Order: sequence, then C-alpha cells, then structure tokens
Amino acid sequence: MYKLPHLDLPPLRGAAGTVRLPGSKSISNRVLLLAGLSEGTTLLRDLLDSDDTRVMLAALAALGCGLARQPDGALAVSGLGGRLQVHQAALFLGNAGTAMRPLTAALAVLSALQGGQFELSGVPRMHERPIGDLVAALRQLGCGVDELGTPGFPPLRLHGTAGGVLQTAQEIRVRGDVSSQFLTALLLALPLAAADPAGAPVVIAVDGELISKPYVDITLNLLARFGIQVLRNGYARFTIPAGSRYQSPGVIHVEADASSASYFIALGAIAAGQAAGDAPLVIDGLSLDSIQGDIRFVEAARLMGADITGAPGRLTVRRGDWPLRAITLDCNAIPDAAMTLAVMALYAQGTTRLVNIASWRVKETDRIAAMATELRKLGATVTEGQDFIEITPPTVWQAASIHTYDDHRIAMCLSLAAFNPLVAVPGGEVSVRILDPQCVAKTFPDYFEALFTVARTAEADIPVITIDGPTASGKGTLAATVAARLGWHQLDSGLLYRATALAAQRQAVAADDEPGLARVAAGLDLRFDGERVLLDGTDVATALRQEQVGSMASRISAWPAVRGALEALQLAFRRLPGLVADGRDMGTVIFPAAPLKLFLTASPAKRAERRYKQLISKGISANLSDLRADLEARDERDKTRLIAPLKPAQDALLLDNSGLDIEQSVARVLDWWAQRGPF
Ligand code: DC
Repeated sequence: MYKLPHLDLPPLRGAAGTVRLPGSKSISNRVLLLAGLSEGTTLLRDLLDSDDTRVMLAALAALGCGLARQPDGALAVSGLGGRLQVHQAALFLGNAGTAMRPLTAALAVLSALQGGQFELSGVPRMHERPIGDLVAALRQLGCGVDELGTPGFPPLRLHGTAGGVLQTAQEIRVRGDVSSQFLTALLLALPLAAADPAGAPVVIAVDGELISKPYVDITLNLLARFGIQVLRNGYARFTIPAGSRYQSPGVIHVEADASSASYFIALGAIAAGQAAGDAPLVIDGLSLDSIQGDIRFVEAARLMGADITGAPGRLTVRRGDWPLRAITLDCNAIPDAAMTLAVMALYAQGTTRLVNIASWRVKETDRIAAMATELRKLGATVTEGQDFIEITPPTVWQAASIHTYDDHRIAMCLSLAAFNPLVAVPGGEVSVRILDPQCVAKTFPDYFEALFTVARTAEADIPVITIDGPTASGKGTLAATVAARLGWHQLDSGLLYRATALAAQRQAVAADDEPGLARVAAGLDLRFDGERVLLDGTDVATALRQEQVGSMASRISAWPAVRGALEALQLAFRRLPGLVADGRDMGTVIFPAAPLKLFLTASPAKRAERRYKQLISKGISANLSDLRADLEARDERDKTRLIAPLKPAQDALLLDNSGLDIEQSVARVLDWWAQRGPF
C-alpha cells in the first residue's frame, strides 16, 4: 500500500452526525489471548482490526490456535486449552505493548511447564519500551527469560524444559508504577500456573503505587468472563485460586474503543451544536457504563464544558460551555485519553494542567515531549515536567506541520487543531498538516474517514485541483496518482459521460434525443467501490472503457441538457479533505474557483501511441492510424462545440507531457500545489 507522506486538514468549522468506532484495542487483545488459551471455541464480535490486533492474531496462528472468520465478520478462535501445540517460534509483535507483555508472560509460563523456546521481538521503538519489571517477576517464578538486546527491554527469549515446576509458594512481586501492563500480563498468564485443584493458589503482590488501575479492572473483568475469579485486596494483592481454568464464554462482544471515542467526544464539545435543536455528534457502540477505564474521559471532558448524555450503546455530545474551561486534573487513570484533553486545552480560556502522567514518557513515543513540541508549533505556550504538562492556548494560531512519531494518538488528537476557525483569535484560520497520517492504523485505521464524515466546513475551503485536456492526454492516470499522493478524492468526469452513454444505449435512447439523454443522466444509479464502477448494481468498469462508448460520450456531451443534468453529481464529489477532478471543463465550468488548474496536452501522435499500447496490453486489437484519426476528430468536436468547449481556463497552467513519464508529471503537479500552500 502506498504510504501517504502527509494529510492536510483545511480549516474545519463544525461537526454533526454519527460515527461508529472500531472495537477496543485493550479488550480485543486481551480476549484474543484468553480465547487462545481457553478450551473450546470463542466467537469474537466487533473485534478491532488494526496493526496491534493483527500482530496478536499472527502470534496466535503461529502457536497453532484455530482462527476462522465467519461470514458475518465475527472471528471464531479455537483455543489451546492450556496445552502448547508448537514449542518453538519467533514472534514479531510490532509496537503492540498489549501483545508483547501478556505473550511474554504466557509463553514464559508455558515453556517452563511444558518445554519450549520462543523469541519475541518488535519494531525498534518496542525495543526501547521497558519490560524489565515483568522479566524480574517471571524469573522469581523460575521461568527462563533471556534478554537478547538491552537488559530490561525486548527482544526476549523464553525457554524451559518439559516437566518444570514454578515457584508459586511465595507471592510473586511486580512493580506497578511503570506500566500496569506488567501486572495485567501476570494476571492473564498465571492461571496457567494455578491449574491444579490440589495445588496452591498463586499470589501476586504489587510493589509501589499501581498506575492506570482501570486497565487492570478490564483485565479482571475479562478473566471473570473466561471463568477465572481473581480475589483482590485493593490494588496491592491479587490471588488466583487453585484449580483455575480458562473456560470459553462462547461469545464475546467487543465494545467500541473508549480511547478512540475521546477524539469524537472532544470534537462534539468543540464543534457540535450548542442549542437543543442543533444536530449533535453521536458515537455508536459505547455506553457510559463501559468496562474500559477511558470512559472516564467523559468526566474530564464535562469538567472542560462538554455536554454528554448516554444511552445503551450510544453517547451523544454537544457543545456545552464555550469557550471550554481550563482545568487542572490528575490523569493517572486515563493516560491515553488525557492526550485529547491537551488538545481541548487549545480551545479553553486559561491554562490547563494535566498531572501524574509520567507513563506518557514510555508509550509509543515520549508523549510529554512530543505533545509539548507539536502544541507549541500551533502557537500554544507549553510547560512540561517529568510527570506533567501545562498548556495555554495560542494568542496567534500558526499553520503547523505535525510530526506524529509513529504514534497513532498524536495524529488523532492533534487533528482536532484544524477546528481553529471556531475560536476568534488573531492570526486567522490555519490549516494543519498531519505527517505520516497512516500511523493511526495502530488502533483506528479509518480515523480520518470517520472524522471527515462528521466534520463540516465551507465548500470553498475544500481544495480542488482541476486537470483538463484532450482525450488520451493521460489526465486520468495523472489525476488518480495525484489524488492518491494527497489522500484526496478523485472525479473522473469523463466516466460520468461514458456511463450516461452506456445507460442510454441500454435503454435505447438515441444520441440525438436531448431530453431523453438528460433524463438518463439525471437518473444515473452510479456507485464507486474501489476499482469497480457499479451502474444499476453491476460492474461496468470495463464496458465504460470501450471505444464506441467513448465516442458516443463525446457526441452526447455536446447537449446542454446533458451537461446540466450531470452538474450536481460532479459538484458532490467535492468532499473533505480535497478533490482532484479531471475532464474537459473542470477548471472552466464546474470548479471555476479551484485554487490550482492544469491543462494537460501531448502531441496527437504521442496520444495515439499511448492509447494504442493501452489497448494492445488489454488484448484489444487496434490500428494506430485509425486511432489517431479518431482522436483528432474527437478533439475537434470537443473543442468546437458551443457549450463548455475544451479549452484551457484563463488561469490554468499548461503541462505538455509528451516528453514526461507519469512520475515526472505527478512531481510537477505536486510541486505547483506545494507552492500554493502554507507548508
Ligand atoms: O475523458 P473521456 O475520454 O473518458 O471522456 C469521454 C467523453 O466525455 C469525451 O469525449 C468528452 C466528454 N467529456 C466532457 O464533455 N466533459 C468532461 N468534463 C469530461 C468528458
């Protein structure tokens, strides 16, 4: 897949509508492991599909768990029943802490009891994220753990010989003040060491104050659903009873991700309507009584002014107080969602102080340093300490290019800075560039699509690049490539004329029946699905490329009523974050105010040659001189027709690509576009 270097967000002005969020990462990876260790099959519904769950799935598959996707999208996991099927494997776990820590614990315990050798590694950042406290706890148990790189960090080798015994007579001590995932990992794995009903219970004691307690609550809640009742004494001692056995609950329904919800809760508080009659922002798949700790972001957002109401499986958010209220808050319980508060602080009156967030420094990146740097780029005043951050909103906003540090949450929360037109500040409205936007795939691959379905802006703020030119000049390929490089939509307007021609042929409407053709154009049932073009529900992508369809399109496009009937359809392609439109009159008639217009040409000989190669490569026979004659006739007709004739817009830039390959043409266009923007 092409990696988008950046995504530009134009100034955004409001938000309304419904979003459905992906499943919770914390729940997904925990239930995957629990289902993988259980006896029997567990059906997982609404499981998150993201980078972090994909590495967990790959690991389970490598360990011999059965994974079967059901027709309705649910995943059936057949577990190991606590017995290793595979005794040796190298598992790559990307940057997923929720996979690395629990798999380390589970495979260390299983190797120690049943024999095995497993190597666990990840991306370079994963090898900088601490795991020493967990390793120390596993060694107390008698597990064999080798640190293959820097001591205290992955990669690790876990090994043991069959018939080993674990030292469970004494309590196992683990530090709780660096990451709660170490405790979670032990809680998920140690039922394996307490399986014998005649044996002793396993006791885990936490050293230091446990951070991120709500994540441990999720762990306990899910263990209970898999038949393991952990007894606890506050958050200091946890006892796993003897005779513990993972039992599949049959079906598990994964809630929407509460951390992902934070961006849309914040969005509602910043940009949704305030009056009762205004459309709110609705978040589907999550309730106020969610088992996820980050649901408590709701309380924090309310403190800042958000108006949030809940119903089963649904949150409704409106703007409450505006501007938002600055707060001082201990964020220990909601470390991930608290990053969103740091961006809400840009819209608050006064200085917001988020404290007790030292764990930010050992996440996907050093999040305190990263947030401070990026918020300052926008004009905010930021003070950072070892375990706090303090944000005062910009007095003058600046367009900023946001570095994302391969950290999904930096990309998602800082995208909310694009709503700056909603605060009346000097400096005016600014765009926000998100670098490496696809890093959101860690937990929310479709984040920006979801944002754009609910974000509102002025039509004029949605950028359009128009590419007009004669047939076979390479407009389509150029437009598609430029659109892909910018992460924008594409309108191939010729396709609409071709579809009208094809539909007219199928309905036996003649090429000279102007009102009949206009009716066909207005009633087109056309949908786009990746490479497929569906006309009345069937794929016509190939049929539309036929020469006779193109030539009828050229003829019927001369009728004013046909052009008029297709206008609204074309305008509707202008959607966030931007549009590249190609055709004959994109810059002159349909998008006359487009900020960048191109007129693409190539010599008739060159164009005929390209079309010839294209047809031959598809196995369609062709004759070069016929093609050239046909092409020149079509040029003549498109140029001389009275309505919307093919000609460059007055302010169009001319690009003769006779001597350029596609990469060179694309580079030229992107360069022209870059010259027009603030970045
Ligand atoms: O670009 P194309 O070959 O797919 O276009 C098919 C015909 O549609 C072309 O001969 C002229 C007509 N057309 C038009 O009149 N206006 C447009 N914006 C696009 C295409």
